[in-house]
Amino acid sequence: MLSGLGAGGALPIPLRSLWNCRFAMLRRSHSASPAPRATKRVRIDHLTSEDFKNGVFLAPMVRSGVLPTRLFALKHGATLVWGPEMVDKAILHAERAVDPVTGVISYNGKTRAMFTTHPIEKPYLIYQIGSSDPDLAVQAAKTVMQDVSGIDLNCGCPKPFSTHAGMGAALLTNPDLLCSILTALRREMPPEITVSAKIRLLPSQEDTLKLVERIVNTGISALTVHCRTRSMRDKDPAVVERLREIVMFVESMGKGIAVIENGDCLGWEDAHRVQSATGAHSVMIARGAESNPSCFSPTPLKDVERTLVPAYIRLARYLDHNWGLTKFCVAQLKGQHMDVKKAEATLMRQTLSQSKDFHGMSEIVGTWTGKEEFEDIVKTIEAYPPREHRLVVFDAFAPQPTPSPPDEYEQPETTPPGTQNPEPPGSGAPFLPSNPLRGVLPAMLSGHDAVTPTPGGGVALM
Ligand SMILES: Cc1cc2nc3c(=O)[nH]c(=O)nc-3n(C[C@H](O)[C@H](O)[C@H](O)COP(=O)(O)O)c2cc1C
Repeated sequence: MLSGLGAGGALPIPLRSLWNCRFAMLRRSHSASPAPRATKRVRIDHLTSEDFKNGVFLAPMVRSGVLPTRLFALKHGATLVWGPEMVDKAILHAERAVDPVTGVISYNGKTRAMFTTHPIEKPYLIYQIGSSDPDLAVQAAKTVMQDVSGIDLNCGCPKPFSTHAGMGAALLTNPDLLCSILTALRREMPPEITVSAKIRLLPSQEDTLKLVERIVNTGISALTVHCRTRSMRDKDPAVVERLREIVMFVESMGKGIAVIENGDCLGWEDAHRVQSATGAHSVMIARGAESNPSCFSPTPLKDVERTLVPAYIRLARYLDHNWGLTKFCVAQLKGQHMDVKKAEATLMRQTLSQSKDFHGMSEIVGTWTGKEEFEDIVKTIEAYPPREHRLVVFDAFAPQPTPSPPDEYEQPETTPPGTQNPEPPGSGAPFLPSNPLRGVLPAMLSGHDAVTPTPGGGVALM
């Protein structure tokens, strides 16, 4: 269907006709129905492709995208959160257990928890699979589907441990396999579980569009494009300028699929810049959130050594999170300094590097009241469901908007007339538009089943 791009990246004639045709149809449908994204939201408690639009998401991150980080991201305004990539086989024989006190759900391997989650994050949690086998991918997805809202396929990891087994970025050059995994997942998952994919750019735009067309036709709900090629390193600037054409191409296919930009977005305010520059429906943040999970808020926490580190450690301890992973994540936390002096920050980092367990941080953290941290997060999430943390509605087909001042973001077009923000956000709380779904989402803490099917056995991760 698609053929080569002309010199200078111009669309060739067959591709351009296809494009123009779809583009014209879309333009017509836009004028017939002026604000399709402003239509009243249907009251449903599972994700649809619309939930992947106008959001700012926490990216999948091995080691860093763990439960405490995800909970802080949700508290501070992440619309949806991706878990770290789990290789399909690693979860298959894990034993599911529920902590009767905290509600934490662990998928335990032989020596450690492979994946932990909590029912409070389920409505917003996308579980990412590394796979090169449709059957294994489906089995892995079925293993966890009771605890997540969506399954994402990692098609972008360039690391040899992933690509040598045909997973991650290796799938980009094996589109038949890539699409067969997505097709199998979509066929075998119940409709309330979304299926999505995360890819990197291919070196040529034409090949990227061909791949995107095939992926979109598998029936996925959302496609994340990490705007780097497989050979680019994270320090290379993301080539976001290639995304607009991809977004418009996907829009022209008329399936309503969300295209999510990933690469070099720093936080909530920056997400507006990225969205304007690319036309992407949503934006996904990795390293910015690894450094400061409150980056999803228009007022991200500053002085993180004082404001976030103690809270992170208390929460991790309460959730019985692995100390080694906690230490790693805390070591990544960075933020602007306002009141914290260099000496205080240095003391925290030295204490952290010398600590062999949670107790080593007692002087920094104070009393172990992690339960309060957790309850505060639950309260915030229940009061302001993250699904309603939305970027201003953006139309990829409209003339490029000029940047708006921050307070204009506070009136998203999706807000139904007559509804009000229930309470003003507190200090450091995310910006929260009014919430038409309030009260519709399940009572997330009370609603989960403590009885745990245990498939038995466990294998090591990756
Ligand atoms: C610590 C770390 C772990 C990552 N793990 C994953 C992963 O599990 N799955 C994945 O698709 N990408 C992974 N990535 C890539 C990020 O999701 C993201 O694509 C990349 O960092 C670019 O986004 P950024 O510029 O916002 O950092 C990881 C990145 C980092 C920094």
